[in-house]
Formats: sequence, C-alpha cells, structure tokens
Amino acid sequence: MRTKIAIIGGSGIYEMDALEEAAWITVDSPWGKPSDAILTGVLDGVDMAFLPRHGRGHVHSPTDVPYRANIDALKRIGVTDIISVSACGSFREALAPGDFVIVDQFIDRTFARPKSFFGSGCVAHVSVAHPTCDRLSDACAQAGRDAGITIHRGGTYLAMEGPQFSSQAESNLYRQWGCDVIGMTNMPEAKLAREAEICYASVAMITDYDSWHPDHGAVDVSEVIKTLQGNGTKARDLVARLPQILGAARTPCPHGCDRALEFAVMTAPD
Ligand code: ADE
Repeated sequence: MRTKIAIIGGSGIYEMDALEEAAWITVDSPWGKPSDAILTGVLDGVDMAFLPRHGRGHVHSPTDVPYRANIDALKRIGVTDIISVSACGSFREALAPGDFVIVDQFIDRTFARPKSFFGSGCVAHVSVAHPTCDRLSDACAQAGRDAGITIHRGGTYLAMEGPQFSSQAESNLYRQWGCDVIGMTNMPEAKLAREAEICYASVAMITDYDSWHPDHGAVDVSEVIKTLQGNGTKARDLVARLPQILGAARTPCPHGCDRALEFAVMTAPD
C-alpha cells in the first residue's frame, strides 16, 4: 500500500513549487460538495493531496465547512494520513504566538455540525479516546523541529462553534478546564477521520492569546491574519519535510487508526 498524505489547511499551504504532477481534481461525495477541488501531486516520491478547508477565497465559515464531504472525498482518493493545519488561540503564557502545537486531545464544544457518517440504518461507535495518531503526530513534530519551528508536542484543543471569538469568562473557564489552545475547525474533522479509518494529526499554529491575557488585548481577525502571514512559510516548510519522514510505503498504523471500525459497528449485516 502507498502512503497518501492529505493536508487540510488554509490558503498558502498548497502553494508548493516542488509539487510534481500537480492537478486540481473535483471529487464527488454522497455527503455533499467538499470545500473545494483537491490539489494532488507528488512530493519527494510520496502522493500528496491539499484541500483548502474554507475553500479558495475563504468562503465557508467554521460551522459550514462540509466536514463529512471533505473526509469522504479524501478517503475516496486513497488518502492514508491527514494533517490538519489551522490557526488557534493560546491559553498558556508559554504557548506564544508563532509557536506550533501538535495537538493530541480535544474538548468538543461544537453543536451545529453533523458529526458522524453513521446514524439510522447503520450504527457505529468508534473510540476517540486518543483522537490523533501518535505516529503521524511524531512525524509532524520532527518535521517542525527540523524546520526550526518552536514545537510543543501535545496539548488539548477546545473546539468552539464560533464564528464569534470567546468572551473573557469563557476563555478563563477553558483555561481552568486545562485546555491549551482554542480553535473552530478540528471538530468534527478528527472524529470523522477516525470513522473513515484515516490517521489524523493536528498542527495548530498559535496566532493570539484569545481573550484572557491581561497584557494582550482580546483577539481580533487582524491579529490572526498578521501572525498567520508570518506562519505561512513555516507551515509550508513543515509540510515539505513530511514525505521524507513518512516514506512512500505504507505499513499498518501501529495505533490501529486504520482499523477503527473493527469493533465499532453495532448494526447486524443484512
Ligand atoms: N483561531 C485563531 N485564534 C482563535 C481564537 N482565539 N479562538 C478561536 N479560534 C481561533
């Protein structure tokens, strides 16, 4: 089996001169239209796919991103590993804007998005006790460090519905809960990747201190964009190093992400 790495991220991440055989392809899904066409190609001998999460031109809000269609489309083209690249706010002094966190846990506070491929007709309960893939997260951490980025390996991501940012009281509450970063997009993406038996890792790029920090004003979009512009090159550098670390030949996931449904389906086959 061949490795196929998908990057779900913002604009800029897919502008890679080194990508060979580059082609934008349209993939249909019974779950609706994905956020955009998918850019496929080969980087250092490894198959790659890039999906702009919000669509080119940033047209889908975090609530309206078609998460199921996106994950299904990536599955259909043979993706084995998904790396989410997204902006986030920080709840810790030591997690500074410009740093990257390789998230390994989530608290899902989203409430207005379909969250599963399963439901009436076929019921399944996958485990998301460990929602990210350790092997893939290690690869991201190594790629980031090799690229000279300040990487924090591990952290809890509070997924909020948005689109508004948090109040100061919410920001303080999430800090008390032990959360490290906050964002609007990694849920239900990570849960759906698990249901689709695709390894998932999350690279969260810190852009701000949300609304809790006494020495920083409350987050706004101009601050997020300014920090993201500085981060674009770093994120591309991290991604460019992944093919060499992961390699073209795919072996079964040591953590079982690719077998998540083995003991999860409740409904008897016809
Ligand atoms: N994305 C970037 N910064 C954020 C924040 N503070 N809250 C939610 N999403 C974010």
